[in-house]
Amino acid sequence: MSHQPYVIDEMISAKSIAARVEALAKEITQAFKGTDKLIVVGLLRGSFVFIADLVREIDLPVEVDFLEASSYGDAMESSREVRILKDLRGEISGRDVLVVEDIVDTGFTLHHVVNLLKSREPKRLEVCALLDKPSRREVPIKASWTGFEIPDEFVVGYGIDFAQRDRNLPHIGKVRFIENPDG
Ligand code: IMP
Ligand code: MG
Repeated sequence: MSHQPYVIDEMISAKSIAARVEALAKEITQAFKGTDKLIVVGLLRGSFVFIADLVREIDLPVEVDFLEASSYGDAMESSREVRILKDLRGEISGRDVLVVEDIVDTGFTLHHVVNLLKSREPKRLEVCALLDKPSRREVPIKASWTGFEIPDEFVVGYGIDFAQRDRNLPHIGKVRFIENPDG
């Protein structure tokens, strides 16, 4: 599909992200100290870069699992209807679980996923989100840890996409549409 042309303006540098990830991992390590095994659940696909960096800074026995919830598709708006496209491989009953999300926007995705996982009766369930857009919230939910609060801008990079593009940017930038000379 084709898009109106856009440029990406840097919002959070790779260096700032790395420093924040390190700090988050320290807090998470402290919070789950003594656990026999922390199950880190990445929400696909947007969290794949974040979770890779985060788990390498967590100083605990860790198991990694993934869950995929239906996303925006190629749109910039949440569908508000969340479906599970890929479920966890492992059991979480009685375990310490950390859900890792890229962005909390309206909150529908995280709300659905947290309710689903809580119904499996983990011992403890916390959420770490890299980004939060609190001004967009429609469902009251907050991550236990948030990397950065950002304004209502559409962002890409560090695993986060716009219609599957720009996930490989090392920093986080905001999408700015430019005038189409033919438009
Ligand atoms: P929510 O259900 O509205 O909270 O949407 C959360 C999901 O929407 C995130 O996990 C992202 O995959 C996606 N999303 C929200 N905001 C953005 C954005 O600015 N850029 C790219 N994806 C986004
Ligand atoms: Mg997502």
